[in-house]
Amino acid sequence: MICDNLSIVNGQLHFAGQNTVTLAKQYGTPLYLLDEDYIRRQCRVYKAAFQKHFGPGAKPLYASKANAFRRMYQIMTEEDMGIDVVSPGEIYTAYSAGYDLSNAYFHGSNKTDGDIAYAMDCGVGCFVADNREELLAIEAECARRGTRQQVLLRLSPGIDPHTYEAVATGKVDSKFGVAIETGQAEELVLFALELPHVDLAGFHCHVGSQVFGEDIFQRAAVIMLEFIAHLEHTHGFKTAQLDLGGGYGVAYTEADPHLDVEEKVAEVAAAVKKTCTRLGIAMPEIHMEPGRSIVAAAGMTLYTVGAVKRITGYKNYVSVDGGMVDNPRYALYKSAYTCYLANKMDEVQDFAADVVGRCCESGDILQPDVMMSASVERGDTLAVCTTGAYNYSMASNYNRLPRPPIVMLHHGESYVAVRRESFEDLCRNDM
Ligand code: LLP
Repeated sequence: MICDNLSIVNGQLHFAGQNTVTLAKQYGTPLYLLDEDYIRRQCRVYKAAFQKHFGPGAKPLYASKANAFRRMYQIMTEEDMGIDVVSPGEIYTAYSAGYDLSNAYFHGSNKTDGDIAYAMDCGVGCFVADNREELLAIEAECARRGTRQQVLLRLSPGIDPHTYEAVATGKVDSKFGVAIETGQAEELVLFALELPHVDLAGFHCHVGSQVFGEDIFQRAAVIMLEFIAHLEHTHGFKTAQLDLGGGYGVAYTEADPHLDVEEKVAEVAAAVKKTCTRLGIAMPEIHMEPGRSIVAAAGMTLYTVGAVKRITGYKNYVSVDGGMVDNPRYALYKSAYTCYLANKMDEVQDFAADVVGRCCESGDILQPDVMMSASVERGDTLAVCTTGAYNYSMASNYNRLPRPPIVMLHHGESYVAVRRESFEDLCRNDM
């Protein structure tokens, strides 16, 4: 099976050691499940790999855009993980969960003055500034408060990560960061160094997401370190921190490779150390920001099958009680997923159907051409695997559909971490 937290017992799909058919009955569908033990394991794997290969100061930061809600930030506190946040909403959620925001890095390519002030109110440790206007706004807010702010500058190393276009972010013409190649990055560094309330601690880059390319991170690291060495040799500026962003790919189907996190971190560390030696610079403190690779495989979404439409001579549709509202990734990116008929795992899977959602759109497709048992019928439980990243965090209320709850699975127990939205929740802000 595509992840080691899946198994089949008596023809039924089990996830994190628990029967998904039973969970669907107990909590109702659609239902997000999250394997808490898997999330904690991934955090520990990253942390151990960072300490081992980059040394004591190095740290992984959970990119909370992948899946953000209070319990997740509590788990990050308990696992002693840094985090990356991108909005005042994420900051508020983390803050209200008791997360110590001095361990947070605040991203985003267009932070408003209000965002900047709010992040400072909440004690966010480091801002990742994207552009000149933002540096000025940070400087102005600090001047008003009489404080200083640690800042990293986001650079674009000019690398094509060979992932889908919507998530490729490190190319020279990207909307994110400032390009090294054009000389604008160097100009901005010199500008930042003149700002009295800005402490420039180093640099950040993020080449993209769902990246499998063999040496993408090593190439990004080399480009960043060459820039860092140039700054040191030309301007005497010593870089304290280098953040190489997130992006490691995860296996959604059997066709995807499985990346070994420890091995990947070791490869990047080897390239970083070798390059620092070649360039005659000290190794900065290294950070990375994994999101998907920490939570994606920890997730599963359960649905109940409704209409099964067999259009003779054409195709088949299996409709479920959720869809693009709780998982817009196929509609947006044509993302592949593995789906199972959770209560009929032992039956021959010789029936091909598009698994579609309940929204009033032909594009509301969760996954085309899924093979399943021909006995599929109303009431069956359909599981979509690997939905822990960018599903709940990208969910909407289109068609006035309430968002599903998140149920955490931990040591053989289950508990609600986010409750199901009610109709009243949908109307909460209606005057
Ligand atoms: N750091 C920065 C600055 C980022 O922009 C991102 C993701 C990450 C870290 C985490 O990357 P990860 O390890 O999760 O790949 N909605 C898209 C993914 C967008 C990713 C945006 N940035 C999807 O559903 O595939």
